[in-house]
Amino acid sequence: MAVGDVSTFDRFARLYDAVMPAAKRSKLRAALARAKRPVERVVDVGGGPGRAVRAIDADCRVVVDPARGMLVQARTHDIEAVCADGSQLPIRTASVDAVVVSDALHHIADQRGVLQEAKRVMRPGGVLVIREFDPTTLRGRALVVAEQFWGFDSTFYSPTALRAEIDAVGLDGQIIDRGFDYTVVGLARQENGNSKAEEFE
Ligand SMILES: C[S@@+](CC[C@H](N)C(=O)[O-])C[C@H]1O[C@@H](n2cnc3c(N)ncnc32)[C@H](O)[C@@H]1O
Repeated sequence: MAVGDVSTFDRFARLYDAVMPAAKRSKLRAALARAKRPVERVVDVGGGPGRAVRAIDADCRVVVDPARGMLVQARTHDIEAVCADGSQLPIRTASVDAVVVSDALHHIADQRGVLQEAKRVMRPGGVLVIREFDPTTLRGRALVVAEQFWGFDSTFYSPTALRAEIDAVGLDGQIIDRGFDYTVVGLARQENGNSKAEEFE
């Protein structure tokens, strides 16, 4: 796990929650609309204070994040929050309709593991929504430098490279929008390989 990134977010969780603007609801909604099933159970991986999942209407919304300070902040917003690494989700196979990873994938050490876990926990027809920053844009290049300066161990993908990563784990990748911040989804096929729907552990 990229301990450096997690410890920083743990320490500055309250400040982060106070200063960050709301998530872009319309972008998240457009991406979630790609699901081939109703979106009722959503997991926000690397969800921090639940910024993304708070912008989503769903019956069950859970943040998974290893930074305990972030979990405290998520709970202040009445969001259920679980302490775990995104590449080892404490969630049963085929039990959720959507996985969201917003402004977090580049901070996670085992990015392939997160994609594989998203595939595992999604029901057939579910959708993985990733909101990220494109390092090939001008602002993206500046962000890469800024995060290095700040001491983060970040790894960024372009939209095309991320779609290829998503395809590689057996989800159907689609680029929803491009720009400095962009959205890519991975659709869980109807034959997801997950044999039965189960509940959260
Ligand atoms: C920039 S914050 C984004 C938080 C939230 N998604 C948002 O949009 O505000 C990045 C988050 O990734 C989390 N993170 C870092 N490593 C992680 C890992 N291995 N698994 C899950 N989350 C991780 C950090 O703790 C932090 O909360």
